Amino acid sequence: MIKKLAGCIREYKKASLLTPLFMVLEVTMEVIIPILMAKLIDMGIDQGDMGYIAKMGIILVVSCVMSLSFGALSGKFAAIASAGFAKNLRHDMYYNVQNFSFSNIDKFSSASIVTRLTTDVTNVQNSYQMIIRIAVRAPMILIFSLAMAFTISAKLAFIFLITIPILGSGLFFIIHKVYPIFEKIFRTYDKLNNVVQENLHGIRVVKSFVREDVEEKKFTDISNEIYSDFTRAEKTIAFNGPLMQFSIYLCMILISWFGARLIVGGELTTGELMSLITYAMQILMGLMMLSIVFVMIIISEASAKRIVEILDEQSDLTNGANPIKEIKDGSIKFEDVNFSYAKRKDKLCLSNVNIDIKSGETVGVIGGTGSSKSSFVQLIPRLYDVTEGKVTVGGVDVRNYDIESLRNEVAMVLQKNVLFSGTIKENLRWGNENATDEELIHVCKLAQAHDFVTTFPEGYDTHIEQGGTNVSGGQKQRLCIARALLKKPKILILDDSTSAVDTKTDALIRKAFAEEIPNTTKIIIAQRISSIEHADKIIVLDNGKIDAVGTHEELLKSNAIYQEVYTSQTKGGEDHE
Ligand SMILES: Nc1ncnc2c1ncn2[C@@H]1O[C@H](COP(=O)(O)OP(=O)(O)O)[C@@H](O)[C@H]1O
Ligand SMILES: [Mg+2]
Repeated sequence: MIKKLAGCIREYKKASLLTPLFMVLEVTMEVIIPILMAKLIDMGIDQGDMGYIAKMGIILVVSCVMSLSFGALSGKFAAIASAGFAKNLRHDMYYNVQNFSFSNIDKFSSASIVTRLTTDVTNVQNSYQMIIRIAVRAPMILIFSLAMAFTISAKLAFIFLITIPILGSGLFFIIHKVYPIFEKIFRTYDKLNNVVQENLHGIRVVKSFVREDVEEKKFTDISNEIYSDFTRAEKTIAFNGPLMQFSIYLCMILISWFGARLIVGGELTTGELMSLITYAMQILMGLMMLSIVFVMIIISEASAKRIVEILDEQSDLTNGANPIKEIKDGSIKFEDVNFSYAKRKDKLCLSNVNIDIKSGETVGVIGGTGSSKSSFVQLIPRLYDVTEGKVTVGGVDVRNYDIESLRNEVAMVLQKNVLFSGTIKENLRWGNENATDEELIHVCKLAQAHDFVTTFPEGYDTHIEQGGTNVSGGQKQRLCIARALLKKPKILILDDSTSAVDTKTDALIRKAFAEEIPNTTKIIIAQRISSIEHADKIIVLDNGKIDAVGTHEELLKSNAIYQEVYTSQTKGGEDHE
């Protein structure tokens, strides 16, 4: 894990090394200063030697300035190193997420990916800064100060041997208590992000169903959970203060008590006593910092793990050796296909699917919600891989194609289609970057989008808001179809993509398809019989199985499900949409 993370330091290695270097210099100065103080007191003040006092005074000031500047430099490099490290982490994670397949994304959930990219990276950034600064500083101070204390007076230094274990075990106890709480907090953050993302994504639905209260309560509950966990953790951490105070005062009292005796006995000078007290403070502070670093590292360990999970995640859809780039035609064949989602391995989402579709055919797919229509078509452009059996396109197993080439030839308008913020033109060009304006207009005419686009004052340069909120559902669907057509695919899949389009326009789109792209295999998932009744063949899906395949007339005669859907839609005349 550490190796993986360290790989992201890259160009910030220099800053990462300079930080502890300046830290060492700063600590050295800090350790020297009490010695200088002791000398000043013993040789200068006690003897009343003004010249010596002045000389030592200047040296002291210079040492302090040096110590401060080293400290500042170390801080500056630490900031550069840790911020840079975080930047690289985010970059690498984001880069890898772009390669994720649908099932990779299913595994993490996008909310969790967001937490990992933000909160977790910030944690690791902070603890990295701590490690290169404090984790170097604290032990050094501890060791130096202890050594110095022992050289001044071995007799008094044993006091530390009493106080350090007291403080140390107290700190250990606190950490032990706090760690599980912090671990839990990060898991709760995931939940919080999930709720926020879901709510904001579906804010319109939330509002139209007047679910604000419920959503607000969900959010408040999780928010409160985090609050109470944090309070619980902070309460425990608050014991740090008194514990620290106690140890410091205990040290002072003991040192003064024994020190006074030693001074009276002539074994110790006042200056030495002063510097001992300073070292005592430094030692205890060092210990305290060490414990904070410890907590930070432990907290961020959970975050680091979550980051590495993203970095390590291999896209489970990869090109095989010598991937084929040429797709011969738009024929599709499913051979004994079984499929289940990684999350629900036990349940077969598609079972024993066999179907043969010729290039250029128009195929309708119908079935109730949850009958696996979307899952069925998603196997064709390899958004998911089959669990058993195989899917071939143009006579070749889809797994043997270069994924990019395959997806260029198999255009799919997803059920949950999205437009991105940008102009209509820019959105359409996702289908083909190099398309000319004429081509754009052509596909928009096919998808029956041209007419409404030209009614916008800015036409094809109209700006689409994020999530496509300023176009209607039916308009969005038509733009998405146009975008897919621009790829000039050999196979076009429409997953319920005309559900928000009126029947007349729907018919016009189908007519345009039949006339303008006769050689493209068209797979149309629809709820309305009218959308698919003219198809060459219609597949009736039921509960992950093919219930029947046939033309409209055949199915009307022989298939119960199809008959039922048909009657329900024709009762009382034509469908009423
Ligand atoms: N990403 C996914 N992970 C796990 N299960 C899923 C996923 N997508 C769909 N499912 C499940 O697979 C079944 C079929 O869903 P789907 O193919 O979307 O049906 P349809 O498009 O016919 O409504 C449903 O039971 C659904 O809950
Ligand atoms: Mg669906």
